[in-house]
Amino acid sequence: MADEASFRADPSIGEPVVTEAEIRERIAALGREITADYAGRAPLLVGVLKGAFVFMADLARAIDLAVEVDFMAVSSYGAATKTSGVVRIVKDLDLDLTDRDVLIVEDIIDSGLTLQYLRRNLMARGPASLEVCALLVRQGQQKEADLGLRYVGFTIPPDFVIGYGLDVGERYRNLPDVRSFTPPA
Ligand code: IMP
Ligand code: MG
Repeated sequence: MADEASFRADPSIGEPVVTEAEIRERIAALGREITADYAGRAPLLVGVLKGAFVFMADLARAIDLAVEVDFMAVSSYGAATKTSGVVRIVKDLDLDLTDRDVLIVEDIIDSGLTLQYLRRNLMARGPASLEVCALLVRQGQQKEADLGLRYVGFTIPPDFVIGYGLDVGERYRNLPDVRSFTPPA
């Protein structure tokens, strides 16, 4: 069978770590919280490509304010599987951040090194405020408080995950839930 047709049947794909229903409910709550926190303002949502594209689409629609959206893409130097902390901007923002209320929208925070770099980089552009909304935070790495994560969807176990924007080798971003992924030994 063509692997395009059977991609959901890959035995490496585990059970949902976060279900569609859980994602839907949590995003609705985050949307209400952000709507209240930014009342009267027009926050600029900055999505980090590619992983955050699905979350961004749902989160933006859960916020009842005149939000604007922009995207940037970063890639970390060094080994493919471990974040080195040295980050390169592959696609920069189109919009000016001066005096804007900027909300970084991330898929998952692992070591937090990518986020640390992004924070520093975006802060230097003179926003009125800079906060972070991450769908997932991997347990046992950095503390939420250390990273200054204002909004978090779910804290998840250490396993590698795919789906809802997250990939392995660019695949599975279109799965509607977040699932563990264990490649064959
Ligand atoms: P950090 O710099 O270690 O926090 O790495 C965060 C980035 O690594 C995320 O934005 C993802 O792009 C990627 N990443 C980390 N964990 C996973 C995972 O379990 N699945 C897919 N991508 C991941
Ligand atoms: Mg990412």
